[in-house]
Amino acid sequence: MNRIYSIVILLFIIGLSRVNAQSIDTIWLSSLDINKASLGWGQPGQNKSCQGNPITINGIQYASGFGTHANSSLYISLKGGSQRFSAIVGIDDEVKVSIGTVVFSIYGAGQLLWKSNIIKAGSPPEKFDINVSRIDTLLLKVDGAGDGNGWDHADWANAYFLVSGTKPVTVGRIIEEAVILTPKNPPSPQIHGPKITGVRPGHDFLFRIPATGNRPMEFSAKGLPAGLKLDEKSGIISGNENIPGRYEVELTATNKLGSCKRKLTIAVGDQIALTPPLGWNSWNCFACAVTQEKVFAAADAMINSGLADHGWNYINIDDCWMVKPDSDDPILGGKVRDEAGNMLTNKKFPDMKALADKVHSRGLKIGIYSGPGPKTCAGYEACFMHENQDAAQFAKWGIDYLKYDWCDYEKIAKDHSLPELKKPYVTMMEALGKVDRDIVYSLCQYGMGDVWEWGAEVNGNCWRTTGDITDDWSSMEEIGFNQAGHEKYAGPGHWNDPDMLVVGKVGWGPDLHPTRLSPYEQYTHISLWALLASPLLIGCDMTQLDDFTFNLLSNDEVIDINQDPLGKQASRILQLENMEIWAKPLEDGSIAVGMFNRGMFGSKIVLKWSDLGISGKRTIRDVWTQKNLGVFDTRFEASIPSHGVKLVRIYR
Ligand code: GAL
Repeated sequence: MNRIYSIVILLFIIGLSRVNAQSIDTIWLSSLDINKASLGWGQPGQNKSCQGNPITINGIQYASGFGTHANSSLYISLKGGSQRFSAIVGIDDEVKVSIGTVVFSIYGAGQLLWKSNIIKAGSPPEKFDINVSRIDTLLLKVDGAGDGNGWDHADWANAYFLVSGTKPVTVGRIIEEAVILTPKNPPSPQIHGPKITGVRPGHDFLFRIPATGNRPMEFSAKGLPAGLKLDEKSGIISGNENIPGRYEVELTATNKLGSCKRKLTIAVGDQIALTPPLGWNSWNCFACAVTQEKVFAAADAMINSGLADHGWNYINIDDCWMVKPDSDDPILGGKVRDEAGNMLTNKKFPDMKALADKVHSRGLKIGIYSGPGPKTCAGYEACFMHENQDAAQFAKWGIDYLKYDWCDYEKIAKDHSLPELKKPYVTMMEALGKVDRDIVYSLCQYGMGDVWEWGAEVNGNCWRTTGDITDDWSSMEEIGFNQAGHEKYAGPGHWNDPDMLVVGKVGWGPDLHPTRLSPYEQYTHISLWALLASPLLIGCDMTQLDDFTFNLLSNDEVIDINQDPLGKQASRILQLENMEIWAKPLEDGSIAVGMFNRGMFGSKIVLKWSDLGISGKRTIRDVWTQKNLGVFDTRFEASIPSHGVKLVRIYR
């Protein structure tokens, strides 16, 4: 017995000495493949800042480190082989302005392991040394500290692991599978899209009845005003009606498998854009690489993909269709206006009227871009001092939507006082008021002077509330979730616009890439924009729509929330750390609710009737899967993945 006991002790001592003898290596973070990091700007710096300078914080230079830029993340697989991780973190001294502010954080095993305070440019660095011995995958994050990510040049200086086993390796972002939730529409006819549309008396009306189902399909419409006619084969209603009024029209779509009816109110009156515009815009995919062919291909794809059958109808050309003053490029340069002062197009857009006619012949509408300054943002001819003439020109071409971008007017405006901010938008409002065409007026000045408070006053049908969106989580979430409080300014005819959609293949042209939003993030993006009653302008190359993107854009119950005739924008009704609940009242008395998880890890959210101001039994419907989830008494609880959403509709 004693012998056995001694052997056990001996084996234990041998084992222990093995452990002790096991060497501990120091592995520098900068020796790993840091190119796997994602950065808000610049390049991952190996022993350098994100701008390529030696890593320097608060006057001290560090030989080793990883220079990055918020919002930044880097995943490192440790597989339990590392004991400790330490570093000194701060904003690089190359930032000379005071706006750089960041927070560093480290996650592992589903938990926050360490978080810095808010670190400002020029402030002393923070130091940490944490135990990572049980961690499989580590995530190093740097986020802006609530003031955007401008100048957030962040350094992980002297960062190293003490390693006793498997060596650390960086890994790409772990992205969930893209699951399609939207059920396919049946082959029998279904009519979708807005339930109300507005037109001014005597102005051209164009409405392509959005209907899914097998073709051929026949359409009919009861109760159309006398000035409008329906093409029974294409379902396109056109014409012009002089007599103001609300015309209650009954639409019918019929194919071999059956027929479907739906009501459409045609409101002939002062107001247009009675529901948020739905369409496509060229900027987020092509930027200045846009051409007439690409625009027409987008219009074709809108029809051929089937998206137009769900209500999408605007095809909007953004910047870069005009002549670029002083350009040597024979395609872009040349005379900016003709002798009579009419604005000319560049050679990529040889015939704007023909393009507009072609788009209209499909039953779709066409939009254009310009600005109140002498030039556009991209340096092309704009409307300054030619507003009346340009508005008339747009109308003559058959334009239905004008995005009017402040940009270069910056050098004309005396300051950012309210009268100066409003002035150019009033001038174009008056010019548009003189043309005999309905042109949706979209103000683009990034929210200056709280434009939501006066956008409707200058006849804006929508106004950008923010700067430009990009296809990453931090940009999309910051813009989307910052819309709280704007809801009281939205309503039929005038909408807050938190910028265009970044799903599908985007890239600000000529090179495109799939959106960098993960599938859950894309569900969040579309759900939130639908709840916000935002104009929905698809920003991707329409000719490269994949099934997942189509799924996001063709869910009729999601589109119905956005297009609801009541025209209410959702309010944030609950904010608990990373969880948010937004609710939008709908015309039929039901409520659309988005339950969002902005955090790094999956979590449960409880929706209480008391938070919604309702009581009694309610039926909950999952909007993305279009399935009822049951009847609930006082609350509804859901597990929401990181960056994901549960979008529900609550019925009495
Ligand atoms: C920006 C605008 C973008 C895009 C761009 C064109 O000011 O916010 O959406 O239109 O100009 O140059």
